Amino acid sequence: VINDERTLIAVKPDGVQRRLVGQIIQRFEQRGFKLVGLKMLQVSEDLLSQHYCQLRQKPFYPSLLQYMTSGPVVVMVWEGLNVVQTSRAMVGHTNPAEAQAGTVRGDFSFHVSRNVVHASDSLEGAQREIQLWFQGNELLNWVCCDQTSTY
Ligand code: TYD
Repeated sequence: VINDERTLIAVKPDGVQRRLVGQIIQRFEQRGFKLVGLKMLQVSEDLLSQHYCQLRQKPFYPSLLQYMTSGPVVVMVWEGLNVVQTSRAMVGHTNPAEAQAGTVRGDFSFHVSRNVVHASDSLEGAQREIQLWFQGNELLNWVCCDQTSTY
């Protein structure tokens, strides 16, 4: 199976501060997805306003911006079959109170304003977010040294 679907996953400032980066990466590696981009950055309000452009009118938007700029985030691009949908399932419900145990949010958080991680919610969303957060040359098309493995 060859599948180059990609999604954007970000460990939010609370996840970085709580030393959860490794455990989150581990879950995606363990599932078998391929890491093709990774960086840590202090996000600008400009980037965030584009990232969350659909939420600008929401009452929680100002506090969301404050939270997301409160410290560095670790942003990644993961690749594989159905990675967008599967990642959403792995991350869990937006509101951690409704997220199942076994999901990142269900295991590591209890409040929607500190839900540890971001995952793109659709193919189109993933493409838009990957372009927004990464330059083309920051994404690597590497293959397994075992050439019989196609993903
Ligand atoms: P949203 O895009 O609806 O959810 P998701 O991150 O699961 O795709 O919302 C973006 C972020 O906004 C969400 O992860 C946390 C924050 N948020 C709040 O702080 N309060 C809220 O009531 C909602 C719905 C979201």
